[in-house]
Amino acid sequence: MRVLGIETSCDETGVAIYDTDQGLLADALYSQIAMHAEFGGVVPELASRDHTRKLLPLIQQVMDEAQLKAADIDAITYTAGPGLVGALMVGASTAHGLAKAWGVPVLGVHHMEGHLLAPMLEDDAPEFPFVALLVSGGHTQLVAVRGLGEYELLGESVDDAAGEAFDKAAKMLELPYPGGPQVAKLAEQGDPRRYRFPRPMTDRPGLDFSFSGLKTHTMVTLKKAKAADDLDEQHCADIARAFEEAVVDTLVIKCRRALDQTGLKRLVVAGGVSANTRLRERLSHELTKRNARAYYPRGRFCTDNGAMIAYVGAQRLNAGEQDTGPMKAVPRWPL
Ligand code: KG4
Ligand code: ZN
Repeated sequence: MRVLGIETSCDETGVAIYDTDQGLLADALYSQIAMHAEFGGVVPELASRDHTRKLLPLIQQVMDEAQLKAADIDAITYTAGPGLVGALMVGASTAHGLAKAWGVPVLGVHHMEGHLLAPMLEDDAPEFPFVALLVSGGHTQLVAVRGLGEYELLGESVDDAAGEAFDKAAKMLELPYPGGPQVAKLAEQGDPRRYRFPRPMTDRPGLDFSFSGLKTHTMVTLKKAKAADDLDEQHCADIARAFEEAVVDTLVIKCRRALDQTGLKRLVVAGGVSANTRLRERLSHELTKRNARAYYPRGRFCTDNGAMIAYVGAQRLNAGEQDTGPMKAVPRWPL
C-alpha cells in the first residue's frame, strides 16, 4: 500500500509517500520559521494561509520525486490534531478533497502518535514495547508503548512543555525564534558551575513535569544580572547553560524512573526537543549504565514532518481504519 501523508498542524508543511513494502519513497518539507520569526512566534492566521500556498506544490513535488501518478496512490492520511485549527483544516480539507477525486480511502491521524512512531522509519527501529519521551513545543509526555494504539500515559507536564520553556527562555535572552536550538547553541559556551537551577518535581515520586517555575527562575536570574549591570555575552551563556542543564537533568531523571517503573529497556525520544545534543549525551550515558538503549528519529524527522504521518496512517489503514464522515480537525486531542 502506498500512502500519501500530509502534515500541517503548526508551522511546517510536510508531505511524504510511504510504501508498506518499500518504505519511504519521498518526503518534502517547507518550514514557515522565517515568516513567523519577525513576530517572535507562530501567527496562526499566517500559518494557515501559507499552508494553503505550499501544500499542493509540495504534493506535486513528492509525486514527481517518487515518479508516481495519482493512480499509484492507495490512500491519503493527514494530521487531524492536536494543533492550530486553521492550519489543520488546510491539510484535512486537501486530504479529503484529493481522496474524493482519486477514489481512495482517507484517514486523519494524531500528530503525537506520528512523533511517537517516527523512529520506526529508521533501519534500526525499536521493537515494542518501549517507553517514549515526547518532548515538543506543545507536549512533554512519558508514554508506555506496548503496540500500535496501545499507549499508557505515565506522566506529563502540568504546565509548560519543555520546548515551550526553551522558547520562552530564548525570548528572555533576546534570541530569535524558534528558541530551542538558539538556547542550546549559546549554552555550549556557558560555564555549568556558575549557577544551579532547580529540577522541578524531581524531589517527589511520580512522572509528571513542571517547567513554568524554571522560566520564572531564569527571569529572576536575568533581572538580577541586569540590575547589577553584569549581563555580558558570557553571563547570558552561563544562564542558558544552567537552564538547559536543569531541563535536561529533569527529563533524564524522569526517563530513568519511567524505565525502572515499567521494567522496559528501550526508550524512544521524539519531538523537537529530541534534537537537543546535551539531552542525547546525558541519556546515552544514563541508559548505558542500566543496559538500556535510546532510539531517535533521524534529525529531520525529530521536528514536524509528513513522513511520520504517512507511516502512522499506513499502520492504521492496514488495521482497517479510515474516515467515514467529514474531515477531522481537532485542536485538542489526548493521545
Ligand atoms: O515537534 P516540534 O517540531 O513542533 C511541535 O509539535 O511543537 O517541536 C518544536 C520545539 C520548539 O519548542 C523548539 O524550540 C524545540 O522543539 N527544539 C529544541 C531544539 N530543537 C528544537 N529545544 C531544545 N534544543 C534543541 N536543539
Ligand atoms: Zn510536533
